[in-house]
Amino acid sequence: MPLPPEMPERAQHTPVSGTARPLVLLGIESSCDETAAAVVRRNPDGSATVLSDVVLSQTEDHAPYGGVVPEIAARAHVVHLDRLIRKAMDDAGCAFADLDGIAATAGPGLIGGLLVGFTMAGAIAQVHGLPLLAINHLEGHALTARLTDGVAFPYLMLLVSGGHSQLLIVEGVGRYSRLGTTIDDALGEAFDKTAKLLGLGYPGGPHVERMARNGDETRFDFPRPMVGRPGCDFSFSGLKTAVRRAAQAVMPLTDQDAADICASFQAAISDCVADRLTRAMRAFRHRYPDVESPAVVVAGGVAANARLRAMMTKVAADNGFSVSIPPLRLCTDNAVMIAWAGAERMAAGLLDTGTTKARPRWPLDPDAVPALGAGAAGAKA
Ligand code: KG4
Ligand code: ZN
Repeated sequence: MPLPPEMPERAQHTPVSGTARPLVLLGIESSCDETAAAVVRRNPDGSATVLSDVVLSQTEDHAPYGGVVPEIAARAHVVHLDRLIRKAMDDAGCAFADLDGIAATAGPGLIGGLLVGFTMAGAIAQVHGLPLLAINHLEGHALTARLTDGVAFPYLMLLVSGGHSQLLIVEGVGRYSRLGTTIDDALGEAFDKTAKLLGLGYPGGPHVERMARNGDETRFDFPRPMVGRPGCDFSFSGLKTAVRRAAQAVMPLTDQDAADICASFQAAISDCVADRLTRAMRAFRHRYPDVESPAVVVAGGVAANARLRAMMTKVAADNGFSVSIPPLRLCTDNAVMIAWAGAERMAAGLLDTGTTKARPRWPLDPDAVPALGAGAAGAKA
């Protein structure tokens, strides 16, 4: 049937199932304080080619406040997103007519930023007659290891960022089973709060890690919340309180005091994550006894931490798992992972119906019991 004259030719797009042809997607990410756009091609053999990758971090805009300010973030996305999309398309040498779809983060995250990115993606999709894929930000993180290392399903995933601390089994595209989540602070948040308390900069993780290099990790005996408990949930708020008490007890803090606190804090964190990870590996083995050499994949900004990386590598080796930690640029927030998740969805025939709205809460595993309760908008974690 001929298309009406006002419809561009791409509107003839046929739904994809299987992986017979290459898929080129524009990805847009705006759920927190990174504005990002990227173009990725999924090749018929399942490998990926990153055609462009543009990220604008708003870290400096938020630094004076010691955390992300939602209104500032949303405004910055409005100001920069169209230029970044243009750059991503130019870098990739692509016209919109060359695309097979547009993938944009629809949640979870800060609703102002999500609305900016998802609405713009919807407008571009409509104008060019392209399918719009509403991507769960966590799915983007979860599938990145397939782009970088071609990791096969099922695998175990540890996601540790400023907003999330989760252990999941990635069973397939769109199939996630949550083993554990935080019942209070996210791991990155614990680093950020510790840094703030000690008067270090924002974001706190890199500062705490740097200070810890000169510290004595045995000086403060901080608690190891949840260690030895059943399940795979995390908790970090008790540790934060212990750090505050220790800092108050030795005031005024010398550089050495701060370094010792940072080192002792990192050691406690490392023990907590090791315990939870070991349990998650057991749970994975129980569920998938036939997977011979399963992989554990790590993502999120906290994956940059060398102490944690070393611990994860050891725990994985002790339990017969291989480890995949994508390069840092793809561990932290980016649009490559969103475009890739869209391509994986298209290749699996999981085309969105177009009804999905941007949403601040959107658990990857809809069956998981909310750890922080649920409100009108759904589960909080
Ligand atoms: O994934 P990400 O870039 O942004 C989101 O939260 O989505 O993660 C940022 C978090 C921050 O809390 C930051 O302090 C933490 O990752 N982080 C680190 C390190 N680098 C970044 N935490 C510990 N050690 C690091 N080297
Ligand atoms: Zn993220």
